[in-house]
Amino acid sequence: MQRKKIHDREFEVYLTSTQIQSRLKEVADQISNDFRDDQLIILGVLNGSFMVLADLSRYLNLPVSCEFLKISSYSGTQSTGKITSIIGLNIDLTGKSVLIVEDIVDTGLSMKFLLDELQKLNPKKISIMTLLFKREAFRYNYPLDYVGFEIPNKFVVGYGLDYDGLGRNLPDIYQLCTS
Ligand code: IMP
Repeated sequence: MQRKKIHDREFEVYLTSTQIQSRLKEVADQISNDFRDDQLIILGVLNGSFMVLADLSRYLNLPVSCEFLKISSYSGTQSTGKITSIIGLNIDLTGKSVLIVEDIVDTGLSMKFLLDELQKLNPKKISIMTLLFKREAFRYNYPLDYVGFEIPNKFVVGYGLDYDGLGRNLPDIYQLCTS
């Protein structure tokens, strides 16, 4: 198994780029079908979703608007549980169908915050796409409409996900080694 050292920790490959791309194509087909009669806004949550959104959007067979926003709730390998505010969203969502695109839903706190904030902007519908989902860590019960992979409750990096600022540019996803 190919290992990588990032800062002080060892990581091993968990999902290859080929697996990620093939799953994104499947999810994109599903989204294209579900929104074929709609004008969709795909809303990437920065920084983590920049790779997912870039690849997913290219597999969509739909005319979509791509928008981005930023929130922050994490540092290091453990959730701080702190949420700041939404930055950078300056479009009108009134009456629009919005697909939030995330790299990972862990406890679900960031997404809950985002959902509550975006609902205030009176969209027609909000759906969620996340590449990774840690079901064991999830503390809420709102639905996740499109999930790439359910993964165990272990820290991962790569393909947009970072460990203290590093690892986002890796094409594969790596999991923290326990030994
Ligand atoms: P949540 O609010 O606990 O769901 O965490 C969501 C955010 O925490 C994600 O958008 C990521 O930025 C970050 N995060 C959660 N788990 C991981 C992980 O395993 N690796 C890297 N970042 C993570």
